[in-house]
Amino acid sequence: MLIYLWAESQGKVIGFQGGLPWHLPADMHYFKTVTTGNTIVAGAKTFASFPKPLPNRTNVVVTHQPTTAFPTGVTVLDSLDAVRAYAAQRPDEKIFVVGGAQIFAGLINDVDYLYRTVIHAGFDGDTWMPAIDYTKFQLIDTQPGIRNAKNPYDFAFEQYQRK
Ligand SMILES: NC(=O)c1ccc[n+]([C@@H]2O[C@H](COP(=O)([O-])OP(=O)(O)OC[C@H]3O[C@@H](n4cnc5c(N)ncnc54)[C@H](OP(=O)(O)O)[C@@H]3O)[C@@H](O)[C@H]2O)c1
Repeated sequence: MLIYLWAESQGKVIGFQGGLPWHLPADMHYFKTVTTGNTIVAGAKTFASFPKPLPNRTNVVVTHQPTTAFPTGVTVLDSLDAVRAYAAQRPDEKIFVVGGAQIFAGLINDVDYLYRTVIHAGFDGDTWMPAIDYTKFQLIDTQPGIRNAKNPYDFAFEQYQRK
């Protein structure tokens, strides 16, 4: 199954200058918790924002670059159709599409679940979450984030399932 996993702030901002606009350790912890042991699929720019392939996960990168441009062990797919085929061959696996916007835009009709962190704060950004028709999804879980000195925003973790 394909699952989108992302965090967005006010105005659907998701990125700035190749990285995240915010520092929210609680969301990084959530990301690690839900993806560990599973597969992540990232566009080349998002993959480049990681210091290295994410440990204890199958790392898939979507790019037109050759496999040799990436560390050993990273699965390289050259199209969104290749991602669809990869997921179709693994129906029992949780495959987390972790962005960025280019990848989110292309697979919206294929995704089964949405895991969205909503950050109730405004940030400068240069990358936005593409439009999603939420009438096609049902909210199945929402958990408030805990605001504290290290996570100084109101935020919540939401999960949606395709109807
Ligand atoms: N807030 C969040 O949850 C979140 C999540 C993810 C990312 N982000 C942020 O979003 C920004 C990056 O997003 P982005 O949209 O600019 O880039 P991206 O989607 O991460 O990567 C774009 C790259 O993916 C490859 N690609 C895209 N479509 C393809 C296709 N159909 N076939 C083959 N390859 C394809 C291309 O790589 P090549 O040029 O190598 O061919 C393209 O340059 C960063 O700021 C990042 O931190 C935020």
